[in-house]
Amino acid sequence: MKRRILVIEDDSTMREGMCYSLLKEGHHVESAEDGVKGISLGKKKLFDLVITDYRLKSMNGIEVMEEIKKINPETDVVLITAYGTMELAVEAINKGASDCISKPLSLEDFRTRIKNVLQNRAIREENQRLGEENLYLRKEVAQQYNFGEIIGHSKAMSRVFQQIRKIAPTDSSVLITGESGTGKELVAHSIHNLSPRKDNPFIKVNCGVLVDSLLESELFGHEKGAFTNAIKRKRGKFELADTGSIFLDEIGDISENMQVKLLRVLQEKEIDRVGAEQTKKVDVRIIAATNQNLGELAQKGKFREDLYYRLNVIPIHLPPLRGRKKDIPLLAHHFLEKKGAEMQKPISMISQKALEALEKYNWPGNIRELQNLIERALVLCDEDEIHLHDFPVLLENEGQNKLNVSNANEDLPLTIVLEDIELQLIKRAMEKAGGVKTKAAELLGIKTSALYYKLDKYSILE
Ligand SMILES: Nc1ncnc2c1ncn2[C@@H]1O[C@H](COP(=O)(O)OP(=O)(O)OP(=O)(O)O)[C@@H](O)[C@H]1O
Ligand SMILES: [Mg+2]
Repeated sequence: MKRRILVIEDDSTMREGMCYSLLKEGHHVESAEDGVKGISLGKKKLFDLVITDYRLKSMNGIEVMEEIKKINPETDVVLITAYGTMELAVEAINKGASDCISKPLSLEDFRTRIKNVLQNRAIREENQRLGEENLYLRKEVAQQYNFGEIIGHSKAMSRVFQQIRKIAPTDSSVLITGESGTGKELVAHSIHNLSPRKDNPFIKVNCGVLVDSLLESELFGHEKGAFTNAIKRKRGKFELADTGSIFLDEIGDISENMQVKLLRVLQEKEIDRVGAEQTKKVDVRIIAATNQNLGELAQKGKFREDLYYRLNVIPIHLPPLRGRKKDIPLLAHHFLEKKGAEMQKPISMISQKALEALEKYNWPGNIRELQNLIERALVLCDEDEIHLHDFPVLLENEGQNKLNVSNANEDLPLTIVLEDIELQLIKRAMEKAGGVKTKAAELLGIKTSALYYKLDKYSILE
């Protein structure tokens, strides 16, 4: 399998030798001559494997490894050390290195050792993909990060993964909460896929889009002739989900009347088909989701408290993306790879500036917005790296942020910071006024003479 490999080595002969050997194996190889450059490359692009010399100019190989693991804990790191430094090798392995190869390096030995590391990686990835069966066999460390399709290595997401792992095998009802675009549906799928019901149906109902009467027949089905237009008998989603799971999305939107009916299903585990005389037993696991605060709605009497408690047996809250910024580079690269493949535009790098802007942004639309932005950037991008200008929304945001006090440089004297803000406001007013100074002065609420003075002071007129 073709892998993305980064070689960090200050000795150019060694570096070129290793790169050549890896290229010959068909890998995508990049190199850097010192740790700082290597780490900066590592931030732009996700590598499968980083091979680093221990003794580098500005930092040592273990420090490089620690930085690389911070960017993506799943990257394999192999250390190259001087001959006879056994203790160092032990330290490196303890700290997470996949292997430690000592100099002098025979290219043959190098080739087989790297092959081994990549083989182990492939097995690990396969285990991850296989999900449940192997989930419990995988090392605890690996479990904390990506979780099938769900990407994230922030503390908040590790906690969510832990919760999913614990509750998936049970039959308890789950209530997933979180803002729009935080991944509620993805989590619902993953709970089902990791449960013993995984080979049985997973049925989704969007409770928010249907009017009451339709929702009732959608959920519970109807008999022929139960109402006008009921020309045929129809099975409801609960029946379809029998022995599997039902995902009740936007549960906060259902009416009082439907809440009562749902409560009954949850309590009695049986449904009434509209127009039917007999009830029917169903065995369905309920996973509900909402972007509203159901607890608060229940307190205010806007949602039945008893139903809330029935649904909320196990709560999972997905934090907004702005609260887990550590996941942004990982997610951005994940979407870049996924969307790039779909669009047949294999761009795998994001510039440092663009990444910084992504991390600074507030993400009101959460992960869905990030995914959309990456997709649009891919459309715009005509180089082999995504740049800040491929994210027009972020550029606008940058402009706005400049006036945000929280972004002001605290190390500078106040007068300079204030002048900077004043300069930006004047420029903006001049732009809005189309260069007409009396109008700009009016916008700023100052006299035209004062504006002339300031334009001169900041050399804006030149
Ligand atoms: N942690 C994640 N890793 C990878 N992809 C994610 C993650 N979270 C969300 N996504 C992707 O982002 C998009 C939005 O996620 P999803 O539909 O699950 O959000 P949601 O919380 O259900 O939103 P809404 O409340 O608007 O329905 C989907 O395409 C999903 O695959
Ligand atoms: Mg959703």
